Amino acid sequence: MCGIIGIVGCSPVADRLADSLKRLEYRGYDSAGIATLEASGAIARLRAEGKLVNLQALIDKAPPLGTVGIGHTRWATHGVPSERNAHPHATAQVAVVHNGIIENFRELREEMEGLGRHFESDTDTEVVAHLVSQAVEAGASPVDAVASVLPRLKGAFALALLFRGRDDILIGARRGSPLAIGYGKGEMFLGSDAMALAPFTSSVAYLEDGDWVVITHEGATIRDETGEVVARAVTRSNASALIVDKGNHRHFMAKEIHEQPEVVGHTLARYVDFTSGRIRLPADSDFSFAKVRRLVISACGTAYYAGLTAKYWFERYAGLPVDIDIASEFRYREAPLDPDDVSLFVSQSGETADTLAALRYCKAAGQKVAAVVNVMESTIARESDVVFPTLAGPEIGVASTKAFTCQLTALLCLAIAAGRQRGVLDDDGERSLVQALIEIPRIMAEALKVEHQIEGLAKSLSKVRHALYLGRGTNFPLALEGALKLKEISYIHAEGYAAGELKHGPIALIDETMPVIVIAPHDQIFEKTVSNMQEVAARGGRIILMTDTRGAGASGLEPAETIILPDMPAAIAPLAYAIPVQLLAYHTAVFIGTDVDQPRNLAKSVTVE
Ligand code: G6P
Repeated sequence: MCGIIGIVGCSPVADRLADSLKRLEYRGYDSAGIATLEASGAIARLRAEGKLVNLQALIDKAPPLGTVGIGHTRWATHGVPSERNAHPHATAQVAVVHNGIIENFRELREEMEGLGRHFESDTDTEVVAHLVSQAVEAGASPVDAVASVLPRLKGAFALALLFRGRDDILIGARRGSPLAIGYGKGEMFLGSDAMALAPFTSSVAYLEDGDWVVITHEGATIRDETGEVVARAVTRSNASALIVDKGNHRHFMAKEIHEQPEVVGHTLARYVDFTSGRIRLPADSDFSFAKVRRLVISACGTAYYAGLTAKYWFERYAGLPVDIDIASEFRYREAPLDPDDVSLFVSQSGETADTLAALRYCKAAGQKVAAVVNVMESTIARESDVVFPTLAGPEIGVASTKAFTCQLTALLCLAIAAGRQRGVLDDDGERSLVQALIEIPRIMAEALKVEHQIEGLAKSLSKVRHALYLGRGTNFPLALEGALKLKEISYIHAEGYAAGELKHGPIALIDETMPVIVIAPHDQIFEKTVSNMQEVAARGGRIILMTDTRGAGASGLEPAETIILPDMPAAIAPLAYAIPVQLLAYHTAVFIGTDVDQPRNLAKSVTVE
């Protein structure tokens, strides 16, 4: 969601602010802006609706010369996407950029308007500029003004503030939404994540919840919410070393789909001892599922579907009962929690607001909290008792692909480890599953070969208005994920269903205009899915079958299209079948001509509830 950058520099910062915003594009945004100081000390803003090229054009037209500044990519929450609502919001005294929500902005705004202050936007953010201004105009220093305003703000947010006539400081604050400090040589930075800071420095400190910071050319003074000066560890971020370009691909999403054999391989290498053919959980975790009575999984979006797949695995391979819920539901449904149970959170970004809130709910109930995350510097990673990493690398496409299959990889390894620890799997059981795991990168590379066929199919799919995805067992979450992918990037309405539920409703939708994508490798329940396909065929539905050679031969049907993947053990099928599912959504969106990497209205990292 919204991205923040701030620089206290020694040379003009406008281009560097824009450069950093470019790196934050992947989070999703609908407008952008920067604020710097003019030679007179006055605050000057440039803001533009839409893509960053619009902001860059303004910068190029009249390059600002200020050496201190803040920048922002906005994903609209309060107020439509427009230049007027784009950040920074400012008064004559202060400019502010903000990620998150100020929940009590209405009452604060009324108070400020009552004092005769004039607002120019519909945002919740602008109230911060006015509150701080009010204090500064009453004689407070920037630091005292911010100190007096922060306790008045309710909600989850990160802020960066720039002050008139002060080219030597910026102030940042974190409550709920992440904010990092970058340490340079004679220059200092604020950023919503390490990616924003990557062009400038790899020395990064993360504010803890409630912290706020004053950065100057020389360094940072961090205070906690009580006002005590505190120290936060400066770590080396590897974000700058990470390659964030599209390679030979047209979109990041295409690149990320194709990277999967490699990054799944990297993730596997963290969990599998290839020599012994055994699972070896990441070195720093002495965590055990042996005595756990129930596992509680929560996540959002694609990560939730990874968790749902894992439910099948934990129950099947480890005899471990799993409760799973969407984090936004879980956190409010007052689920009774046993302190002896373990909770597991799945998140690419590690910053999703609802997942984080669910984690804190479980922690408060005394549960041991584990997380599968891709961004190790994230809040979820830092607040979990034990972290299981995915090694997907930076995922830039808003629609998750490689993070999903890396989550599946880590989760399957955890389920196998749990099976051993709980005595459900014996040596042979573990070895045969690990052998299947080892083959995944090769099988995924094979699966990518269906791309050409899928491109042809996507052309016709791009003309439909609705689509249905069906699957059973671990292919049911994949049907949900397939429908989500298609919706997200092609804007075609799609629904995923457990194939057995077909008769309980969705069958009413079937006619010759309805494509039905069936994910059905030839496994133990294949015959059941064939019955459902017959029900679709009998009503003229257009079946697109994703299966293997055995399945294609045994279906006894003539689907409109059959996509054949290599034969593989059932345990790893969701990983391999994710590939045609992702490719179908991708190529359909390309035919339609949507903004594949940054689909409308979506954000990569959803840091508000
Ligand atoms: C957003 C993204 C999805 C992602 C979901 C959960 O909706 O667009 O791709 O699956 O958030 O994000 P997380 O970072 O927690 O995995």
